[in-house]
Amino acid sequence: MVEIERECSCEKNPLVPQVCQIVEITDETPDIKTFKVKTMEGTKPFAPKPGQLGMFSLIGIGEGMFSITAQGEDYLDFAIKKIGMLTDALHEVKPGKQIGLRGPYGNTFPTEGCKGKNMLFIGGGIGLAPVRSFIRYAFENRKDYGKIDIVYGSRTPADLCFKDDLFKNWPAMPDTEVHVTVDKGDENWNGHVGFVPAFVEELNFSPADTIVVLCGPPIMIKYCAQSLKKMGFADDQVVTTLEMRMKCGIGKCGRCNIGSKYVCLDGPVFTMAELADLPAEY
Ligand code: FES
Repeated sequence: MVEIERECSCEKNPLVPQVCQIVEITDETPDIKTFKVKTMEGTKPFAPKPGQLGMFSLIGIGEGMFSITAQGEDYLDFAIKKIGMLTDALHEVKPGKQIGLRGPYGNTFPTEGCKGKNMLFIGGGIGLAPVRSFIRYAFENRKDYGKIDIVYGSRTPADLCFKDDLFKNWPAMPDTEVHVTVDKGDENWNGHVGFVPAFVEELNFSPADTIVVLCGPPIMIKYCAQSLKKMGFADDQVVTTLEMRMKCGIGKCGRCNIGSKYVCLDGPVFTMAELADLPAEY
């Protein structure tokens, strides 16, 4: 069983954006880019914990909440998929672009509660972006965690995010295995083909002393949760994030409720045991 940490860690007034700049843009897939952001002074805008989010604003276009996929001493990275007006506009900007940034928002992955456990990270599509913040944390604190397995799937080989991590950096880490699948291969793909939930069952992970961190499209989360249950994982061993539901992030807009819970105030990180008590609409 794992406990989710729910203490608010906003360092400043969460309604006041800082003026920041996008200093680097990396193409991950045809519709996902990673934006490296620093303050105008070249420092890290704030110090998030794994699983937290930041609110981007583009003057004249709008605002949007995005997961922080990585951080370093002086930067935050956001991997953003092109899905609407704000993200379309973001995909057109060039390094040097000024943005507003607020945060961090949301609770965090249970990095403390998972210490001493084996970790099974499962991501689908852009859902790897939030999970990656915990994966990186676990590698930075490698001795605190047991075996690490990472399962990741995308629609096609071209849609795989963070390819350097998947095929180079992470497989080289101690006591770590990375398992990649695609729904549909192409002529150059020699890896696994199939959906993530079936792949998870095929890999037949042991639930003993293991915590699962799961994020992807809702349908993938639903079927992965069923697969994990069949394999003997209890609901309180499986943690997910409903980060896509975060809108205003501060309990004001009323767009994130599931039953009595506000995803932005009570989450976005929940165990499957917590979600089992809510109406089945996530
Ligand atoms: S995101 Fe606005 S109320 Fe929760």
